[in-house]
Amino acid sequence: MNYKSYIQGITPYEPGKPIEEVQRELGLKRVIKLASNENPLGPSKKVRAAIAKFSRNIHLYPDGGVYRLKMKLSERLQVAPDQLIFGNGSNEIIELLVKGFVEEGDKVLSSEKSFLVYPLVTRTLGGNFSGSPMKDYRYNLEALASLVDDRTRLIFIANPNNPTGTYVSRNELDDFLDRIPERVIVCLDEAYIDFVDAPDFPDGLFYVKLERKNVIVLRTFSKSHGLAGLRVGFGAGPRELIAYLHKIRQPFNVNSLAQQAALAALDDAEYSARTRRVVLEGRRFLAEKFAQLRLNFVSSQGNFILVDAERDAEQVFRFLLKKGIIIRSMKPYGLPTHIRVSIGLAAENRAFVRELGKMMKKIRKGGDLPL
Ligand SMILES: Cc1ncc(COP(=O)(O)O)c(C=O)c1O
Repeated sequence: MNYKSYIQGITPYEPGKPIEEVQRELGLKRVIKLASNENPLGPSKKVRAAIAKFSRNIHLYPDGGVYRLKMKLSERLQVAPDQLIFGNGSNEIIELLVKGFVEEGDKVLSSEKSFLVYPLVTRTLGGNFSGSPMKDYRYNLEALASLVDDRTRLIFIANPNNPTGTYVSRNELDDFLDRIPERVIVCLDEAYIDFVDAPDFPDGLFYVKLERKNVIVLRTFSKSHGLAGLRVGFGAGPRELIAYLHKIRQPFNVNSLAQQAALAALDDAEYSARTRRVVLEGRRFLAEKFAQLRLNFVSSQGNFILVDAERDAEQVFRFLLKKGIIIRSMKPYGLPTHIRVSIGLAAENRAFVRELGKMMKKIRKGGDLPL
């Protein structure tokens, strides 16, 4: 078999453990998943009704042009319809960007400890990925800009960043964009923008509306809209770039239920507001509890928090799993004792803190976690 050596060397992406799998394996009835930055409220009722209604049409191919959703978003965001492209999750747009611009040996940049899909997709297509060092768990845009060379094609900035929850400010981004040559595409991945409350956070659409030639913004319906299982996200950018990406996408890349669900989600302002309230309150609660437990954590603008559990993160993961709580070990990100916990409902956050507290007490008394 002619396996490609650069693909053979890839470590597959490991998603958060599914609830059913944990229930099956550990015989647990109640399992709390705080591992994949999903919406803790469950699906919106309006979305479920829209899906049920539309299900009579699922024998037909979806609208490949995603017309209704495109028009609605265009109006909502004040960007032209031909500045929008939809994908099977925003992950697909990440892939389209790399497919469209990166040839074997070309360079893609981001920060270390950022979204693992950037290096994964880059390597799948034979590109070279480099992540610049961070400063206090934040993107260091100066370090990132200094990595740009003639082979650089694309730069990904997750803002806020996953898994650290940190963000780059408007001033930092302005300075950075001024330093980057126009031939290099800068992708602002704003999957978590709906959870931001920092006043100096830059809305990437500002640059798109200024018609900056090399900036594309990614957003998703997976987080604040609660549609992670349906897979729909989009990119907003310069017309020429968007037209180019349309050439290489699959004709029916966004399924029809996802399109209907996204349309309904945009109309469910109450659900969006409730989601934001739950996440911001939960984020404050967890930060307060981590401080009380004297744990180092990173202040977050996302629907998750990175915290140093002071023990091997895989052991911590397994310990909490046995208690029916799924979190994420950050070992694959090069953070051997950090875990990332998604913000859940108030009761879920309390259950997590209770178990974490017990675990820390045990550790600090000199006990160890079972291997
Ligand atoms: C930074 C970042 N970008 C993009 C995504 C992907 O979202 P989607 O579900 O739209 O593919 C995620 C999901 O976890 C993410 O953390």
